[in-house]
Amino acid sequence: MRPELDSYAHVASGKVRDIYRIDDETLLMVTSDRISAYDFVLDTPIPDKGRVLTATSFFWFDHLGVPNHLAGGPTDERIPASVLGRSMVVRDLPMVAVECVARGYLTGSGLLDYAATGSVCGIELPAGLGEASKLPEPIFTPALKADIGDHDENITYEQVVDLVGGDLAADLKATTLDVYGRGSDLAAQRGIILADTKFEFGRAADGSLVLADEVLTPDSSRYWDAATYVAGQVQPSFDKQIVRNWLTGPDSGWDRHGDTPPPPLPDDVVAQTRARYIEAYERLSQQRFDEWPDAGEAA
Ligand SMILES: Nc1ncnc2c1ncn2[C@@H]1O[C@H](COP(=O)(O)OP(=O)(O)OP(=O)(O)O)[C@@H](O)[C@H]1O
Ligand SMILES: [Mg+2]
Repeated sequence: MRPELDSYAHVASGKVRDIYRIDDETLLMVTSDRISAYDFVLDTPIPDKGRVLTATSFFWFDHLGVPNHLAGGPTDERIPASVLGRSMVVRDLPMVAVECVARGYLTGSGLLDYAATGSVCGIELPAGLGEASKLPEPIFTPALKADIGDHDENITYEQVVDLVGGDLAADLKATTLDVYGRGSDLAAQRGIILADTKFEFGRAADGSLVLADEVLTPDSSRYWDAATYVAGQVQPSFDKQIVRNWLTGPDSGWDRHGDTPPPPLPDDVVAQTRARYIEAYERLSQQRFDEWPDAGEAA
């Protein structure tokens, strides 16, 4: 259910977030507690997930040292009390229509492409890599956003050049790899592997790139625990593995390959998943989540 905000008009909703217009230049992005798994948005929300993801984005925007779309802080007075803690006030920017993915490890659609062609997004990779292999160096693997229900489509760098021109394509690639490097270095210091991530960029009036959307959250990134990393096998997801294991295990009674939606999650699965999201935030940011603003604290 999307929050009804008296103050602002609703503009759009994705799987997890709702967007409202504050004024001509400014949007409110509200993150819900919805969680998706195996391409379904589950019926059971994870309490506080929206706040954790928002806290995570704010942390990274603060620490990455590149221009970003924030137009106010976590307790900006334009944020309605009912959605405090899970909202960002952002500049409404023209968005670049390319999903800018960086990968330091091979998995997911990257691994599928590699297995079929030996390359990912046209980038040839050495032979002999497999599930969760570390790549010789991080690569830029752009994609086009798919319609709801479909997977994003990987494209080559040349296709990005055709879409947006050579100068912007070069800027997207360099900035994506630069920000991935900053993020993965910091995560590594906290014992977390940033396997891959997706950025979205807007453009400032002078054409320069502005990091937008959510950034380096568990929803836009694959985080793995460095302590349990083993190349050659599917890595447990830092945040969603408990949900996935339960859904595909005997207790859920759910057939992943059928067409019925997944059943509601039991309370202990919800509680453990909530704890994982909080742990990821606290480990990365070295901040305590119970200090993050919450609805009801507003003046
Ligand atoms: N600063 C910004 N200005 C304008 N649009 C933005 C800005 N930051 C992000 N967006 C856009 O806002 C939308 C964010 O919505 P959201 O992520 O909920 O939906 P989605 O990307 O369409 O769907 P999903 O992520 O569920 O696949 C995206 O279309 C994103 O490109
Ligand atoms: Mg999105």
